[in-house]
Amino acid sequence: MGQYERVEKLPKERLPRHVAIILDGNGRWAEEHGVSRSKGHLTGAENVETISDALIDMGISYLTVYAFSTENWKRSQEEVSYLMMLLKRYLIKNKKDAIRRNIRIRVLGDKSGLAPDLQALIADVEQSTAHLNSFYLQFAINYGGRDEIRRAVQRIAEEKISPNLITENVISDHLDTAGIPDPDLLIRTSGEERISNFLLWQLAYSEFYFSSKYWPDFTPQDLEEAILSYAGRQRRFGGRK
Ligand code: FPP
Repeated sequence: MGQYERVEKLPKERLPRHVAIILDGNGRWAEEHGVSRSKGHLTGAENVETISDALIDMGISYLTVYAFSTENWKRSQEEVSYLMMLLKRYLIKNKKDAIRRNIRIRVLGDKSGLAPDLQALIADVEQSTAHLNSFYLQFAINYGGRDEIRRAVQRIAEEKISPNLITENVISDHLDTAGIPDPDLLIRTSGEERISNFLLWQLAYSEFYFSSKYWPDFTPQDLEEAILSYAGRQRRFGGRK
């Protein structure tokens, strides 16, 4: 048994396949520690690595994190630039590591709204890891759930798909998450209990777990609690046995 004994003891079918996380509370964590917001985001970005390693150790295959929303552009220019720098640094630093560990990295969101150098970096990391399949890591950047649906509808219209052929699968296949299973479990940290325009279509039947911890303080043990809570739930997908 490894370090996540309680999760490892669960029958495989009780584990979530896909965990999505709204990383919230970096700013409040920084304030509480008397450090800059940047330091909060830096510590939060480091924690993404810790938590994705823990998920890999637990045998969970998909992680999607909400790193930058379409609304986050409203923050100060200094904060926006710092977050963009962190994302760039993360991609540069983790490309080799992802290839070595068989991890596929994808970015969800409207990439056309990002700086050209970040777009090029994303394209490079996505292409270099496209064939990898032991863990799937998605970053939502310049992402909004409504905007994603709007872009999907736009593409469906451009492809002139006949209205009577537009099924739910056609819509799913035009979203940024095409080919990725819907999240089984959504975690939001920092005590806020709302969806904030994240994966609106994909979260239709997901289980939600709210932690009062700020994201930089959210540990692999807290993750373990979330997984155990999920494993104890009865999912009915709208039906009844
Ligand atoms: C929420 O905290 C967090 C964000 C808006 C950004 C999340 C981004 C990161 C953790 C860094 C991104 C980099 C990588 C590599 C994933 P908040 O600032 O809204 O916190 P507050 O509500 O307490 O102010």
